[in-house]
Amino acid sequence: MTKIKKAVIPAAGLGTRFLPITKGVCKEMLPIVDKPTLQYNIEELVASGITDILVITARNKKNIEDYFDCTPELDLNLKAADKEELLDISKYLENIAQICYTRQHHPAGLADAIMYARSFVGNDPFVVLLGDDMVYTDNTQRPCIKQLIDCYDKTGMCALATMGVSDNDVSKYGNIGYEKTDGRMKFINNIIEKPSSDKKLSNDAIIGRYLVTPDIFDIIDDLKKLNPNQEVSFTDALLKIANTKGLVGYDLEGIRYDTGDKIGFLQANVEYALRDEKLGSEFAKYIKGIAKTL
Ligand code: G1P
Repeated sequence: MTKIKKAVIPAAGLGTRFLPITKGVCKEMLPIVDKPTLQYNIEELVASGITDILVITARNKKNIEDYFDCTPELDLNLKAADKEELLDISKYLENIAQICYTRQHHPAGLADAIMYARSFVGNDPFVVLLGDDMVYTDNTQRPCIKQLIDCYDKTGMCALATMGVSDNDVSKYGNIGYEKTDGRMKFINNIIEKPSSDKKLSNDAIIGRYLVTPDIFDIIDDLKKLNPNQEVSFTDALLKIANTKGLVGYDLEGIRYDTGDKIGFLQANVEYALRDEKLGSEFAKYIKGIAKTL
């Protein structure tokens, strides 16, 4: 079985849902407690066995590269002040994974962004992680990307993560249709991008974690040729995979946060702070106190 080592993170989006902060700080760098969302997502990849990561950025995303670069001035300062613990954090970030970057030149959607990964990916299956989604798993659960890798190892099929949503929420996500299931696995026979609730195929929504094979690039190319003046939808490319080689939806274990949305971002901050070893109990006291006043 091929070991899956490579991941692509499309991070070229303008972050309009998060204006005005995204005029100055890109959305992937917004913090949950004290780490940017992108770091949590890279940690999920590393914990899943991924070693090589391509981040697809854009013109306004320079602070991503700086964050994972070395910081000699800061490090010298921390060393001189005997702040070994902080120095370790700085060094850890520098060596977290082999990360490379490329820029999407025009904001032309997810499928177009993924095309920039073609030469990086080569011939092996790879994973795609969308940075707006964060998935918390506790220490009894596998990281979300590892759940997809295990699914691929078991079935030999491409996979994506799903979660159950209410009728009111189906229109916010890619929606899967299926007939056969096996435990958490659902064998997909149709996908619709953001359907109205009367058009839904199920209550299973796609979240931003995918495992695909490199033939996705030819599929996107072919779809582009069919409609040269239109943006190719990544969901249409996935549907093509579902109809040919097969595609599995895996009902994820863990808690998913939409950190690209202001409410989802605030929820993540509150819940991660409550789980934090150092801050948790003091923060819980504060939350209990303020809850009484609401
Ligand atoms: C994208 C996908 C959609 C998926 C969602 C998950 O949509 O196109 O199928 O459900 O991510 O977050 P976006 O949120 O970028 O509009």
